[in-house]
Amino acid sequence: MDMQRIPAREGNYNLRNYDETRATFKWEDAHKYFSWDKTGKVNIAYEAIDRHAENPSTKDKVALLYSAPGREESLTFGEISAESNKFANVLRKYGVHKGDRIFLFMPRSPEFYISLFGILKTGAIAGPLFEAFMEQAVRDRLEDSEAKMLITTPDLLERVPQEELPTLEKIILVGNQEIESSKYIDFYNEMEAASSSFEIEWMDLEDGMLIHYTSGSTGKPKGVYHVHYAMIQHYVTGEWVLDLKEDDVYWCTADPGWVTGTSYGVFAPWLHGVTNVIRGGRFTPEDWYDTLEKHSVSVWYTAPTALRMLVSAGEDLVKTYDFSSLRHLLSVGEPLNPEVITWGLKAFDLRIHDTWWMTETGAQLIVNLPSEEVRPGSMGKPIPGIEATIVDNEGNEIPPNQMGNLAIRAGWPSMMRGVWNNPSKFESYFINGWYVSGDSAYRDEDGYFWFQGRLDDVINTSGERVGPFEVESKLIEHPAVAEAGVIGKPDPQRGEIIKAFITLNPGFVESSELLEDIRQFVKTELAAHAAPREIEVKDSIPKTRSGKIMRRLLKSWELGLPTGDMSTLEV
Ligand code: WT7
Repeated sequence: MDMQRIPAREGNYNLRNYDETRATFKWEDAHKYFSWDKTGKVNIAYEAIDRHAENPSTKDKVALLYSAPGREESLTFGEISAESNKFANVLRKYGVHKGDRIFLFMPRSPEFYISLFGILKTGAIAGPLFEAFMEQAVRDRLEDSEAKMLITTPDLLERVPQEELPTLEKIILVGNQEIESSKYIDFYNEMEAASSSFEIEWMDLEDGMLIHYTSGSTGKPKGVYHVHYAMIQHYVTGEWVLDLKEDDVYWCTADPGWVTGTSYGVFAPWLHGVTNVIRGGRFTPEDWYDTLEKHSVSVWYTAPTALRMLVSAGEDLVKTYDFSSLRHLLSVGEPLNPEVITWGLKAFDLRIHDTWWMTETGAQLIVNLPSEEVRPGSMGKPIPGIEATIVDNEGNEIPPNQMGNLAIRAGWPSMMRGVWNNPSKFESYFINGWYVSGDSAYRDEDGYFWFQGRLDDVINTSGERVGPFEVESKLIEHPAVAEAGVIGKPDPQRGEIIKAFITLNPGFVESSELLEDIRQFVKTELAAHAAPREIEVKDSIPKTRSGKIMRRLLKSWELGLPTGDMSTLEV
């Protein structure tokens, strides 16, 4: 079973002695990096941006290297500091205060990052939304969080059901348009008039910073709530796991609508004052290789799906580029196939370091460190300061090499502090002092963790987390669909694809046009990545006596597996 292990190379890594650090490290040791140690207060916007802008030796350093088709721009720490001050003034002018929820719904752009830090400087809680969300997804999130303001682009405005969102007071529009409503604020006009000095809102460590909505197996998406104190873990993992050094050029490919794109696309690099590459636009292997080469990227954090697509694009393509600056590669979001690690060794002459964490955990927890041996197929070991184990259903620890539920001792700095509006959901994550992840895994005798799958029905498609319930709910809104059950079907490239089983309402006849219409319906109302790639019409959908869709049975059908205990099946 055990693949060949890949030893660490000699190197000047920030964390060189894992065992010793693990034995001695305490999170309090990291307080000294932040103003909190002296003043008792923090703001992540100060620590990530303003601190470097105040320092004459880093003020003019490039913070953001932005490129997208048709736009290239770079901003220094001094510039982001001044621009986000302006934006904070705009928000204040329109009544934004500490604790308000202010959402961002726009593509990656310099304005996104300026707005994000402007929001944080006012003490408000930022809610980034993935730009591909359609109306229903946007509505669910703004409604649940009772968002007060939204920053978006004119193009995306039609997906914001304003009449149905009574708490939404203003919409700030980034882009040229005729302003027809008193509800709209023009980003550029306001920025021009705003002062570039702002009195930052000093926060307590446990004050709210961010809400990321994510999917579970039941119910609507959950608002995972994070606090400013999370920065300590962003900083420490930036040092140990990303191995960031002053002169690095760092690129994280994730969108800030997802947690990787904030914790590691924004905070970790900038807390370290490192130059951060942001690439907009769609993925193509050529485009990504160009980006790595053009900016001389040295540390690269990406996802298995993207890496698998690079593998498919072939080795000849790799050889046409110069990747001599690249020194450290990392991956997150889904299982990293050992074949991909093998390919990485050939293509880049580098190991790819898998990391495991979740929206709820706020930062990396189980990782492959540059100074440690990599065991392909394993997510690695818990970082110092983190206690990880495998528990059974009652929350009791189980011995090595046995599969169970991956659990983390609750209370690490970047752990979510709540599920917005849903305290019982939040509590349901914890048992016996453990945060229970819902991932099945085992650990070996040496403390390496091996991912096995999800224990619930949550789907991971191309590294994006999709709740089957959301898709099922949307499907049955289509006039033709009576019932729906949705599963993840294994797929070599995407990890899983979404497959829907449906029954049709009387009067509807199965046809490829109808199925395509149903697919498009989900795509245009929810999000492209949530639309089922396969739809199969059935006479009935299996349900338990209590009416729960038996997704596990659907999956067994799909995979041709034995169906197991069906005693709770209806009829
Ligand atoms: C789920 C969390 C925060 C990272 C981006 C995804 C899966 C995450 C790995 C990994 C295997 C992984 C898990 C986890 N996952 N990293 N290294 N190996 N699976 O965040 O959307 O909250 O999803 O992604 O199933 O529970 P997310």
